[in-house]
Amino acid sequence: MSDKAKIILDGKTYEFPIVTGSEGERAIDISKLRDESGFITLDFGYKNTGATKSAITFLDGEEGILHYRGYPIEQLAEKSSFLEVSYLLLNGELPNKKQMEEFDGNIRYHSLVHEDMKRFFEFFPNNAHPMGILSAMVNSLSTFYPKSQDPNRPMKDVERTIYRLIAKMPTLAAISYKNNLGHPYMYPNNKLGYVDNFLYMMFGMPTEDYVGDPVVSDALNKLLILHADHEQNCSASTVRMVGSSQANLYSAVSAGIAALWGPLHGGANQEVIEMLETIRNDGGDIQKWVDKAKDKNDPFRLFGFGHRVYKNFDPRAIIIKKACDEVLKKMGVNDPVLDIARRLEEIALKDEYFIERKLYPNVDFYSGIIYRAINIPTRMFTVMFALGRLPGWIAQWKEMVENKEPIGRPRQIYTGATKRDYVALMDRK
Ligand code: SDX
Repeated sequence: MSDKAKIILDGKTYEFPIVTGSEGERAIDISKLRDESGFITLDFGYKNTGATKSAITFLDGEEGILHYRGYPIEQLAEKSSFLEVSYLLLNGELPNKKQMEEFDGNIRYHSLVHEDMKRFFEFFPNNAHPMGILSAMVNSLSTFYPKSQDPNRPMKDVERTIYRLIAKMPTLAAISYKNNLGHPYMYPNNKLGYVDNFLYMMFGMPTEDYVGDPVVSDALNKLLILHADHEQNCSASTVRMVGSSQANLYSAVSAGIAALWGPLHGGANQEVIEMLETIRNDGGDIQKWVDKAKDKNDPFRLFGFGHRVYKNFDPRAIIIKKACDEVLKKMGVNDPVLDIARRLEEIALKDEYFIERKLYPNVDFYSGIIYRAINIPTRMFTVMFALGRLPGWIAQWKEMVENKEPIGRPRQIYTGATKRDYVALMDRK
């Protein structure tokens, strides 16, 4: 295989190196294209453009493969814990017993938020979307820890910021939920593991003992693992872009939360449930809604279907669909929207429009049904995605900083008015 690419521009031949990744992916390194030829490339949505080299996550969209640091997602979802997967993404290796105990201890230690932060919650409108609250609260953490704003702070301070983020985001998420309900906040109970502590803060009440459900904990652990990273997706690229200006990590993650909120990205899990409920309330005519999704003149999209990279099944969707059946069976839940989801998938996957465009269920299609079964409210679904994706965002940011990557600054092709002189108001028509 050639290690050079030749491009002929205006009759002149330019050569650029070909880069090959550890899984055989290949790229043309055009870092010198503009300097040598004056040309740039144009690629809306960066569909064909690599922004970086990364050793964190490998996915193969054609084969439906997803590995975190080389470990198949299927094995991690089955055998690991979300905190262990967080350590793996951040450090590149699975922790030994001592490393895991230390990491777990640091996360438990930092689970409280500054008491002053509780006042912030009182000033949000009581129907405020929890993603808007979470993005604001995570960014405000940078004001409580001003040392985090120093781009040259020592690595041990960066590690403390990472512990604080992973430890405090569940606390902030649970407070935003309780605030929404007008219920008293639950302080973290550091005797509980990461997932159980979050569920305790979400569903515990100061007036009674909280009894966890291992089925719920296991389902949430699996869902958080499956959401933990996904290479250069929209929100991870946002975190890298903001971090590349040497803005602090809290602000970079806050920007990632904002990007994830979009209905085409992490907001899709809330849209899926609302879509399934709309179809059910509309009489359950699945074909009618599939036809609407295919109609170019209709803005309706089949949320939870399609993916920028997966042109085969999203491997996470397969695991989540199986977990969905298990959780609902164990909990004795019979959710009518699950039947609609199954029928919708069946009809869509036989439809030429979806087959031709390689549109399959993605990670968001079934996750909402499990969240519902474990009593997570719909408006918290994308918050759950953010909790899962947090270690991935931080790992991507950390890799960008450690590799001393340059500030992100894409070019453009200008298509506006060419040079013209100013005309005084009285002389204009
Ligand atoms: C996530 O990038 C990641 O890794 C993201 C993520 C992660 O873990 O970070 O995996 C999480 O964001 C999953 C995706 C969640 N979003 C949705 O479920 C929203 C519905 N899906 C679509 O909006 C869409 O499929 C995207 C945004 C996910 C992908 O869009 P692309 O890659 O830009 O593809 P496209 O919009 O150009 O679509 C190609 C064709 C178009 O038709 P034509 O113009 O060729 O005729 O497929 C059609 C689209 O109209 N199409 C759909 C569709 N998705 C694409 N038609 C109907 N319903 C859909 N869901």
